[in-house]
Amino acid sequence: MKSISALITGASKGIGLEVAKRFAPMVSELHLAARGKDGLQKAARLLQREGLTIHLHTVDLTTDHGVEALATGVKESTPKLDLLVNNAGVFLPGTLVGESSCNLSYMMNLNVLSHCKLLNKLDGCFQRGGYIFEMSSVAARKLFLGKPGYSISKQAQGAMIEALRHEMRPRGVRVTSVMPGPTWSNSWEGAQFPKERLLDASHVADMMFAAWQLPQEAVLEELVIRPFDGDIE
Ligand SMILES: NC(=O)c1ccc[n+]([C@@H]2O[C@H](COP(=O)([O-])OP(=O)(O)OC[C@H]3O[C@@H](n4cnc5c(N)ncnc54)[C@H](OP(=O)(O)O)[C@@H]3O)[C@@H](O)[C@H]2O)c1
Repeated sequence: MKSISALITGASKGIGLEVAKRFAPMVSELHLAARGKDGLQKAARLLQREGLTIHLHTVDLTTDHGVEALATGVKESTPKLDLLVNNAGVFLPGTLVGESSCNLSYMMNLNVLSHCKLLNKLDGCFQRGGYIFEMSSVAARKLFLGKPGYSISKQAQGAMIEALRHEMRPRGVRVTSVMPGPTWSNSWEGAQFPKERLLDASHVADMMFAAWQLPQEAVLEELVIRPFDGDIE
């Protein structure tokens, strides 16, 4: 079996953890990043199997220090990355005016800037045949009025992803923008919806795995996946 190295950010729960579960059987060197040590250790216990080396990185990606520490930590043991899942992100509520703009700043920082900075610091790790998943959202295509900050951050990330694809194409690295609709995770804790009203994170992970399995000469550039009944406004 070909040895495959991967880095997944925001891998301790939610979509990131499901993606880690889906890809782990194919991977030999797996880097997982999040802020909380306990969550990462729990994820590692779930994923551990013979032939898989797991590296845990407890980093806050909203800080330059956190991004730098992650990139340096990955490169120390894994100079070439076959797969990056740039997933860490957050939804915070808030209107544009009349409320503090700190939620917007935080989302721009984590959902967009930390992704750009990490890609920048990992430059040199991607090789022909590599794959980058950028975790976006249907909010990249649709402005959720009343809580616009998240859409603003995901639409800015959308421009970043296009630029990334342009820069990675000559290097033979495929880039997929993953745009899920509402998906069960921490952010929906306490919501009183029937189970099927939201996507299960495994649906998203399964489609990403299918995209990754396409031959090198084809790329699923955008993966839009929604609950059958649509978004929740
Ligand atoms: N759930 C949805 O409905 C939905 C829909 C579309 C797109 N998405 C996108 O999917 C991605 C994952 O969302 P999710 O719903 O799965 O979230 P989640 O369950 O809250 O998980 C977020 C993950 O990111 C980590 N994280 C959060 N802040 C971080 C920081 N500052 N530095 C490093 N790691 C951090 C968390 O661990 P720690 O807390 O320990 O740091 C956790 O592992 C996000 O980009 C989100 O925008 C979600």
